[in-house]
Amino acid sequence: MTPALFENCDERSTGREELAPGAAVLRGFARPHAEHLAAAIAEITARAPFRHMLTPGGQHMSAAMTNCGPLGWISDRNGYRYEACDPLSGTPWPPMPGSFAHLAADAAAAAGYPGFLPDACLINRYDPGTRMSLHQDRDERDLTAPIVSVSLGLPAVFLFGGLSRSDRSDRIALMHGDVVVWGGPSRLRFHGILPVKEGTHPLLGRQRINLTFRKAA
Ligand code: SIN
Ligand code: FE2
Repeated sequence: MTPALFENCDERSTGREELAPGAAVLRGFARPHAEHLAAAIAEITARAPFRHMLTPGGQHMSAAMTNCGPLGWISDRNGYRYEACDPLSGTPWPPMPGSFAHLAADAAAAAGYPGFLPDACLINRYDPGTRMSLHQDRDERDLTAPIVSVSLGLPAVFLFGGLSRSDRSDRIALMHGDVVVWGGPSRLRFHGILPVKEGTHPLLGRQRINLTFRKAA
């Protein structure tokens, strides 16, 4: 352990940590915006409620999901895809607040991806015990754009693997306000979330919320 690593505690909670070529964690990057994000998420989910989507195999997903933006990621018996309308209401997903797109673009730029213009924001809710198994994000047409993932609320352990499912995964603790960006040579890395531990977060209560920004079309 290098003493220099711990000389400045702020450095630990606000710095940029490289995970792999093209992938980084931006510690605390979204923290200044967390209250605004939480309020906007409450408005979005009042219009497009969280729901447990069905996998093509007929299982309910562990995380509850909704979307905002021109396109939303969905899963059902027919597979995984992006749709402009919420299948629950038949109307377009709530618009992506300009502040969301700005935050995502700023985070992408800080990680080396200038000019990121997301057209989809998947919102995942993890109650304690909820997990997400290892998967690749590969339903997007444009794989040159990165994925920008914002963590809010309860902490979680992020699994960041390789380009094959059987590759070893790193385990990264993600806290409220942390942002992970992966693109370029890491764009198709497998990733997932271990079961979220029981707890109560001062802003969000008994849940973890994750926003993933994508360029889907
Ligand atoms: C995802 O892969 O869509 C979610 C990752 C996370 O919850 O951090
Ligand atoms: Fe993912």
